[in-house]
Amino acid sequence: LISRTLRNQLIIPSWLEFTQMIETIFDSCRESNEGEVASYIPQLARQSPHTWGMSICTIDGQRFSLGDSKKNFCLQSVSKAFNYAIVASEIGSHVLHQYVGHEPSGRLFNEICLDSNNMPHNPLINAGAIVVTSMIKPTHSMADRFDFMLKKYRKLAGGGHVGFDNATFLSERDTADRNYALSYYMKEYRCFPDESQVYEKGLREELDLYFQLCSLETNCDTAAVMAATLANGGICPLSTEKCLGSRPCRDILSLMYSCGMYDYSGKFAFQVGLPAKSGVSGIMIVVIPNVMGIALYSPPLDKTGNSCRGVAFCRQLIDKFNFHNY
Ligand code: DON
Repeated sequence: LISRTLRNQLIIPSWLEFTQMIETIFDSCRESNEGEVASYIPQLARQSPHTWGMSICTIDGQRFSLGDSKKNFCLQSVSKAFNYAIVASEIGSHVLHQYVGHEPSGRLFNEICLDSNNMPHNPLINAGAIVVTSMIKPTHSMADRFDFMLKKYRKLAGGGHVGFDNATFLSERDTADRNYALSYYMKEYRCFPDESQVYEKGLREELDLYFQLCSLETNCDTAAVMAATLANGGICPLSTEKCLGSRPCRDILSLMYSCGMYDYSGKFAFQVGLPAKSGVSGIMIVVIPNVMGIALYSPPLDKTGNSCRGVAFCRQLIDKFNFHNY
């Protein structure tokens, strides 16, 4: 970072000016009182609607944070994006996609439906994410599988905080009828790979791993570094360690662009033009490829399930800077 600064080669050269504009956008979004905090489990319902945090990490490792950027939250569905990138880096995107499609489903994220090949539509809805989870080191013990993922997440985060919220995990598991129904349906259609543990051991453990990954805990400061690793072709800008294959990294950004924001994905791609993924805790990660990762956290969600302040921030960002892909 120092040598790039001295050579005037930073991806964002006028950092002070840039961060001042970001702060203006951030402050204007704080005033919003739209949206509802998710209430299906107490751990989410207890989140304050006033919480608002933002963090940026560039591919050079420059960082900027505002508001509640150190407040912890669960990754929830944002884990689906990283799980995909980690699994695809291990086994190859082409192998993974023998079991999961590439298309937006046009349905709710937890709907019981498959595409015309009897596969989940994409890896960012629950059905697809559960199949991707079944491909995580399928021959290993549950403890080793969880450990493997936690270590990978910590690498992506360049040493930032990635923990585990056991209360969220237990609550998720207690309110999981839909995910069980979805998974039994997929088992009937043999959507899982033959070598997965689903057919021999049943679904309980497999879904435990899916809930455990939804319950990984982090904060905006760390999530921005993880997003920056995606922006940087899989190399963590802080540690300079290669954590993900460059192809899976490209692939997850394509999928986030078309399917990352639930039923708002088309409009988000149109208006903001950047790959993003949201989660029901109120987190959003946004990736500006080859430039930076952004993490936004504010629990009130709009009708499509995306953070109200997070989406408002992205729209204003695109009004002020030409980061839109087109
Ligand atoms: O599986 C569930 O219902 C949640 N734990 C997933 C949460 C979420 O963010 C919804 N995403 N697509």
